[in-house]
Amino acid sequence: MQPCFGQRSSSTKLHYDRFHVGQTWLDSKGDTINAHGGNIVYYKNTYYWFGEKRDRHHSLGVSVYSSKDLYNWKPEGLALAHSKDTTSDIAFGGIMERPKVVYNKKTKQFVMWFHVEVRGKGYGAAKVGVAVSKHITGPYQFIRSFRPNGNMSRDMTIFVDDNGAAYEIYSSRENYDLRIVRLTDDYLNVTTKDSLLFAKHREAPAIFKYQKKYYLITSGCTGWAPNAAALRVADNLYGPWKLLGNPLKGKDSNISFYGQPTYFFPVPASSGRLRKKSVQSQSQSPSPRFIYMADRWNPKNLKDSRYQFLPVTLTPQNEMPIEIKWQDSWQLN
Ligand code: GLA
Repeated sequence: MQPCFGQRSSSTKLHYDRFHVGQTWLDSKGDTINAHGGNIVYYKNTYYWFGEKRDRHHSLGVSVYSSKDLYNWKPEGLALAHSKDTTSDIAFGGIMERPKVVYNKKTKQFVMWFHVEVRGKGYGAAKVGVAVSKHITGPYQFIRSFRPNGNMSRDMTIFVDDNGAAYEIYSSRENYDLRIVRLTDDYLNVTTKDSLLFAKHREAPAIFKYQKKYYLITSGCTGWAPNAAALRVADNLYGPWKLLGNPLKGKDSNISFYGQPTYFFPVPASSGRLRKKSVQSQSQSPSPRFIYMADRWNPKNLKDSRYQFLPVTLTPQNEMPIEIKWQDSWQLN
């Protein structure tokens, strides 16, 4: 295995100059990054990575890391902790999954949505939770958890459109349905604009918009075990969603390279400037516009689940307009 980072001593720091896909990824303190099923927010020239903090089997809340280059991450602590109140829906013993943080320009607040399962009820509660903070790293204040318009809500993501309208896309009816609901303008609640997208037993939704079209990837429903992803395209978020097939290509693409989709991160155009000259001079192709983020789950030790950050190739003129290929390691340029 190739060395992932420079030697660590009192004078040298850990330093990555590329993504090592599916490998153990250490933070700036030398601990394994613990941020599963999450998303990345770019704010004031810094990237913030939110994700599920896990021990072997428990959910430990939502952690947050910061970075200047997307390779090297500094731990910023817990963005959202479990509640000490044992009657709370987010009491320890319950589960917080797939946290997604978005910034609300009107209220100037960061809002976190996440899948909530309540202590002692397994995956039976099927709720979504909302928490809010004025500071990106938190601490986020838990506001509420509920089933959107009475519908079960398990795997989910949040999407903010160009006009600032935000939506929750969520697996419902025991994951048989994928639904969408528009959020209120402050992003703190749902509206009744809630609709079925398709009933195909899918989970792990991740979405992006490119050239006025929406692209939505989902996984099948096999718990922690990997399966084939499927891409759909639509001109309108409420559908119709046309099935395009599996955008992952190459060996093990039928089981998503042993991973499961989490998020498409839109790489800001300025990120090229963050790179060192030496790296830039080696570069042949431009930065990807989107990074496909996925989790390689380890159900025996969830904390040790790995990350798969891969570049998305966009070819909108093709029948399959996006392609995600495995790479052991890669650089932004
Ligand atoms: C799927 C979901 C995960 C988690 C597990 C639990 O993999 O995508 O978020 O809920 O099931 O088994």
